[in-house]
Amino acid sequence: MPRTLIVDDHEPTLAALAALVEAEGWEAHRAASIEDARRHLDDARFDAVLVDLNLPDGSGMSLLEEARSAGTAAVVLITGQASVASAVDALRAGVTDYLTKPVDFERVRVILREVRGSTGLTEEIRALTDRQQESGRFGSLVGRSPAMQRVYELIARVAPTSATVLVSGESGSGKELVARTLHDLSRRSKNDFVAINCGAISPALLESELFGHERGSFTGADRRHRGVFERAHRGTLFLDEIAEMPPELQVKLLRVLEAGDFTRIGGETAIDADVRIIAATNRKLDQVLARGLLREDLYYRLKVFHIAVPALRERPDDIALLADHYLELLAEQEGPRRRLTEGALDALRRHSWPGNVRELRNAVYSAYLLTDGESIEAGALPVDIAGGSGVLLDRSSVTLPVGTTLADAERRLILTTLGYHEGNKVKAAEVLGISLKTLYNRLHEYGFWASGTHTT
Ligand SMILES: Nc1ncnc2c1ncn2[C@@H]1O[C@H](COP(=O)(O)OP(=O)(O)OP(=O)(O)O)[C@@H](O)[C@H]1O
Ligand SMILES: [Mg+2]
Repeated sequence: MPRTLIVDDHEPTLAALAALVEAEGWEAHRAASIEDARRHLDDARFDAVLVDLNLPDGSGMSLLEEARSAGTAAVVLITGQASVASAVDALRAGVTDYLTKPVDFERVRVILREVRGSTGLTEEIRALTDRQQESGRFGSLVGRSPAMQRVYELIARVAPTSATVLVSGESGSGKELVARTLHDLSRRSKNDFVAINCGAISPALLESELFGHERGSFTGADRRHRGVFERAHRGTLFLDEIAEMPPELQVKLLRVLEAGDFTRIGGETAIDADVRIIAATNRKLDQVLARGLLREDLYYRLKVFHIAVPALRERPDDIALLADHYLELLAEQEGPRRRLTEGALDALRRHSWPGNVRELRNAVYSAYLLTDGESIEAGALPVDIAGGSGVLLDRSSVTLPVGTTLADAERRLILTTLGYHEGNKVKAAEVLGISLKTLYNRLHEYGFWASGTHTT
């Protein structure tokens, strides 16, 4: 039977927590002070320690190291609402999770179950961290630069907790991939990761997208709608472009984060919001505050834990690694394995990558498609990357000098369209007005053997 040590000087809380822990099938041991807790830790090993931050003889944090070295798998801190900031420091220091007072017993239950099931998770994260130098990856994130290693460290630290995370970084730098990795390495990974782009939905619709609505709650609401808070239940909710959220919704969001529940528009009953929030912005954080894009209280609430994803130009060592990663993926999808020549690599290294990893991926993709042989020359890269010799590849148009043969024009149009739709052949065929079969035949002629089985 797993063993818990509960440390709290408030007898009623202690008794209630002990009853709850026992009801979950754990052994509950009690201590009312740090000194008392130390005696317990000296005597026996505990699987989890739940400890109040404010104890008569000091801070509950002082037990962290002892509990850890005594082999405790999870140390959960109990704090007042006012001390969320110290809870964050605690997470950084290695606390597994924290609970705010008044303690939500359902959360305790969830945490205990997660602790029981999460020993494997800790091992998975440790294995990823150990292998990251050699493999150059951390989950689906590729990169070996010191800047990315710092990102991996932060992910490893915060993923298993329930802390809210704010991810910042330039467009295309990998914020969403970081958010997904956080989810995959969390105790919520078996449940959904739901993403919503606050900047892409009209302010009028955003509230209903977030919280849902009841039938008839406004004109056009002809049926009940479940918002992302409901759909992400027990999972992770990714609030992308958070700084674009209208101020009045920011107030509502903050309320939900604080109360832990919400109501659908036009609804009466409060719905439990058991979601882990990850928010992202591609704006500079100081601007977000200076320009008043985010309310200060919401900003600090979201920024409980902050991960800044570095721009690609700040980690040039990762360029070759990423390019090779995409060429490998292309070989799996399309057939031929192609490699960049030194000249092409040089061009990639010299470029400043305003569009970050997304721009790199697109450049590699189009150069691959425009190359016949095994080596990709600098000349196959877009002109803004390769300079004069590069392909004038506005990704959304094809320029054809007089003298181009009809066959070549067709080939260029097909490949550009395919590149524009990021390799989606169904979409490209539709846009080109040809059958999927014809598209496959052409690609075959151009030296790409058709992958997959869609040959109809
Ligand atoms: N470190 C990385 N390793 C592998 N692929 C990456 C990495 N970073 C980004 N990518 C890829 O680059 C593309 C853009 O990444 P992502 O969508 O996460 O960026 P973003 O920061 O959310 O961009 P935006 O601000 O435009 O929404 C995706 O295809 C993603 O898979
Ligand atoms: Mg994004």
